[in-house]
Amino acid sequence: MTPKTSSGHPQHIIVGLVVLVCFTALFFMYYKPAISWLPCPRTEPTPDTCKHVCLDVPKMEKAAQLGNNCTLNYTMVQQQTADTQSPVLESAQNTKVVLIWSWPFGHHFNLDSCGSELGITGCRLTDDRSQLDKAHGVMFHLRDIGGDLSYLLTLSRPPLQKWVWMNMESPANSPQLPGADHLFNLTSNYRRDSDIWVPYGRLIEASEEDKKTFQIPTKDKLVCWIVSNWNVNYKRVGYFNELSKYINVEGYGRHFDKYIDQDDYAKVMSSCKFYLSFENSIYKDYMTEKLFNALKYGTVPVVIGPPRVNYEEYIPGDSFIHIDDFGSPQELAEHLKLLDQNQEMYEQYFAWRKYFTVKESPFGLEHACRICEYLNKNHNFRVFTNINQWYWS
Ligand SMILES: *[C@@H]1O[C@H](CO)[C@@H](O)[C@H](O)[C@H]1NC(C)=O
Repeated sequence: MTPKTSSGHPQHIIVGLVVLVCFTALFFMYYKPAISWLPCPRTEPTPDTCKHVCLDVPKMEKAAQLGNNCTLNYTMVQQQTADTQSPVLESAQNTKVVLIWSWPFGHHFNLDSCGSELGITGCRLTDDRSQLDKAHGVMFHLRDIGGDLSYLLTLSRPPLQKWVWMNMESPANSPQLPGADHLFNLTSNYRRDSDIWVPYGRLIEASEEDKKTFQIPTKDKLVCWIVSNWNVNYKRVGYFNELSKYINVEGYGRHFDKYIDQDDYAKVMSSCKFYLSFENSIYKDYMTEKLFNALKYGTVPVVIGPPRVNYEEYIPGDSFIHIDDFGSPQELAEHLKLLDQNQEMYEQYFAWRKYFTVKESPFGLEHACRICEYLNKNHNFRVFTNINQWYWS
């Protein structure tokens, strides 16, 4: 039953509302051009824009009669009044569309999970390239672009759209792209001086539950290492060869012909007192899942990577062992054996667990959501003029 009002049929009210919305939008567009670059985004209603609040067809048509320009706003008004009653334009301004140009390393993730996974709202992620002209930001995963930028250069870019260079590999494993200077607006990387910083992981305050329930897992191995990429030019290989003369290291992975799957990965790590979190290359801020997994699964990481002070910006100084703390692999081996004999000293490495827990970054998803978050907060012009120099020098 639809209650009638003195003005007649409810349809009139809807038409009236739509007109009002469009006039409000025009008003803001005229007087406050900076408030949003597309107060009425040029978009057709798609199943996507209609996902949360499905307008019925007659309403949609009426909105369309009044000009395509307002159909999306109309959807947003409905959406907004339905859940928060905030002003119309705020909602239009706060929903940013991020196009994922290609799935990073082919890795797919749920496009609707910025809110549930990271508490970031006001985002619409898409992998549909036909939405290019509607996107506020486009995320390009460096390793998937290939060496050829000629296709990208042919694309027409809305003047306010931002292109994001996204990459999580160290400079040693990333291709430099000639012609990439002046092409991107923003960077998203593990490095803290990137615009949209996404470390491989972070320690966050532990919940009461975590604080109470953590126990050091049962150990039946001393030192372990899981490695697939064995390259004799890597520092870690030389160090391992030397270290293993003085202490037994349980090796897993392709190189040791002991392949382990994802489930066993956590089990193996937990069962070792120490884990060799040896990075493949050494660069500022380059601390990968090799470190954060070790911390998460309850082993003590022995690290090769940037200097200790850099690690201590991310994790407590007493949560890991750095090879630089010792004059030689032999000295490190002696120390590990000492800790093996002294449970109290060993347990000190887990003191941080009383306060913190490990949160790893969902690869690709976190980048896309943080790009959206960034675009909601920053509206300034920005161009990265010297990306190659920044990353590789
Ligand atoms: C993004 O970068 C391009 C290429 O340098 C530039 O033309 C454009 O104005 C920039 N856009 C913004 C919003 O900063």
